[in-house]
Amino acid sequence: MSQELPTVSEIYVKGQTNMEKIEVKLPFSLGTYTSAIPNATRNYLDSLFFTPCFIDTAEADTSITLFGQKLKTPVFCSALSKYPFMSDNWATDVATGIAKAGSLMMLGLGGSDELQKVIDTGAPVIKIVKPYRRTELIYEKIHDAEKRGCIAVGMDVSHALGRLRGDRVDGTDMRGPQTSAELKKIIASTKLPFIIKGVLNLSDAEKAVAIGAAAVLVSNHAANSFLFGLPSPLALPPIAEKVGKKLVVLVDSGFKTGNDALKGLALGAKAVGMGNPIVMALMADGATGVENLLNQITAELHRSMVATNCAKLVDINKSILTTVR
Ligand SMILES: Cc1cc2nc3c(=O)[nH]c(=O)nc-3n(C[C@H](O)[C@H](O)[C@H](O)COP(=O)(O)O)c2cc1C
Repeated sequence: MSQELPTVSEIYVKGQTNMEKIEVKLPFSLGTYTSAIPNATRNYLDSLFFTPCFIDTAEADTSITLFGQKLKTPVFCSALSKYPFMSDNWATDVATGIAKAGSLMMLGLGGSDELQKVIDTGAPVIKIVKPYRRTELIYEKIHDAEKRGCIAVGMDVSHALGRLRGDRVDGTDMRGPQTSAELKKIIASTKLPFIIKGVLNLSDAEKAVAIGAAAVLVSNHAANSFLFGLPSPLALPPIAEKVGKKLVVLVDSGFKTGNDALKGLALGAKAVGMGNPIVMALMADGATGVENLLNQITAELHRSMVATNCAKLVDINKSILTTVR
């Protein structure tokens, strides 16, 4: 970890302080009204330990090729969209930081112009389309993303039953459940790799394989889609075991640090996404904050890979984890 850069904790504290100054709370900071998902996720991640070795340690390499892109880190920005407190430049600021850190960015709800501006920063971009009831809108957005130069596309099926704010559900007029038959047609309609985001269940993961998806993102949408949806790190291992050789398995929801990322990789993910942490970094220091956060998280991941004798990301598996209760 660089001595000069602010630490991950310092970045989060600064982001939080800046948000308090404008009287904003992070939309998902409380998760659900019970906070059950974030608490269980945190408790589970904090119960996993490494047994570090310090003699004859190998150099570690955090680089990865994902959707044809050579990246410096397996930690990426999960699908984000504008919340009222964010500046108009939020998306290009995030993308600039992401590009500088050698990562990739997923972009969620938002228009075509914003998507183009983000792509123009040079960051590899993945467009995540909502599970709209109007199917033609899904095709339109996917083909727009393809035309503009996204490296992949996907859908957050986790919003098929609407969006949660506490225990209030909204968006059900616009969004709705998707059938695997329609998803198969959507996937076949694009030459880009397709990601099904919001998979927590083995059956959905197997359907993703059957309909030709390139990846699943194991995610409970930062506790924003379903009350008591299984915490991602707990849902991940059986999914990775069953379909991990057939498509790319990604994870997000509740990962905040390099050590969290290493645990996600050890539990079977190929790469680990972050949403709220990126927003915190954005609020701390704009594009530089995002770049610093990714660099510091990757530095911690690197350090812990050395200590767990994992020279490459493919060397990481669940044998490096010990559960302490
Ligand atoms: C401000 C904000 C906006 C988001 N917008 C979207 C979106 O439009 N589409 C989507 O699939 N996920 C969206 N998400 C969810 C993230 O992609 C991701 O699943 C989640 O934040 C991961 O959990 P974490 O915040 O604990 O890292 C959003 C998250 C945040 C914080």
